[in-house]
Amino acid sequence: MKLAIVGNGAIGNLLALKCHIQQQEFSLVTRTQQAFTLVATDILQRAHNIQIQPSTFSQLNNADIIVLPVKAYQIADTVAELKPHLCAEQTLVLLHNGMGVIEAVKTLLPNNPIIAATTSHAAYKPSTTTMFETGLGMCHLGYIARGQNSAAPLISNDTNRDALLTSLLTPCCWHADIEQALWDKLAINAVINPLTALHQIKNGQLAQSQYNAIIGEICLETANVMTACGFSAEAGILIDRVKQVIEATSVNYSSMYQDIAHKRQSEIVFINGYICQQAQIHGINVPVNQNLLKRITALEAHY
Ligand code: PAF
Repeated sequence: MKLAIVGNGAIGNLLALKCHIQQQEFSLVTRTQQAFTLVATDILQRAHNIQIQPSTFSQLNNADIIVLPVKAYQIADTVAELKPHLCAEQTLVLLHNGMGVIEAVKTLLPNNPIIAATTSHAAYKPSTTTMFETGLGMCHLGYIARGQNSAAPLISNDTNRDALLTSLLTPCCWHADIEQALWDKLAINAVINPLTALHQIKNGQLAQSQYNAIIGEICLETANVMTACGFSAEAGILIDRVKQVIEATSVNYSSMYQDIAHKRQSEIVFINGYICQQAQIHGINVPVNQNLLKRITALEAHY
């Protein structure tokens, strides 16, 4: 099995580390074509020097699986750029925070197997060539399209491909209904990401009692929207899950904290923005999510 990773953000580098540890052959597509040594520190504090010779899209024709750990707002453009180099047998794995891009990818690639994945595994990338694995989180994944083999069920069928993804993304869980899992993860990101970015804190600091009220309010709004969209949700359960992730990733700076700190575009539109958009469709008031969307968008406007 040959695996390609598109993008060397924190999660792209984390995947490169997993491949390196498991001696899994991989190629990495980066913006610049310059070779570099990635110094990746795993959760046991062991540093690994990984030699990276970046690939281009046109060199991915022999990859069985292409993982896209890029930002939600980069997905559509990246897939459009990748499309001329793909054949129908190649499986695409979308691995990002937020929701609202899957339909566009399915339209662009009607013949390929596509997997949607989301992870709470935490990684911190202080520079282009360094990465720290900072928290062990769960990855959820499931097929959103089977490609030409459309008769196959939309759940892992223990092919070599699925087994490889299971070992690289462990601990992980395959879902027949990945959309429910994506919503569950969205509910977590809707709390942790904007709050850590606005208050400039690590995930773990959200365990302080002063944040209890706002965490409860965000989860209640999100649960109402999820229910209206036909997914199962209870505010109390969402709050418990958020607290578990806060604890499991306590030393981590969330991806949105990192985006805002480095003056990069964040995924707010695909996280709290998506909740607001769905709320509007269903006539639900979500003032807290709207306020978070407004405040993060205002920060981005002042770069
Ligand atoms: O976006 C992130 O940073 C991560 O999804 C999570 C789980 C909130 C941990 O930091």
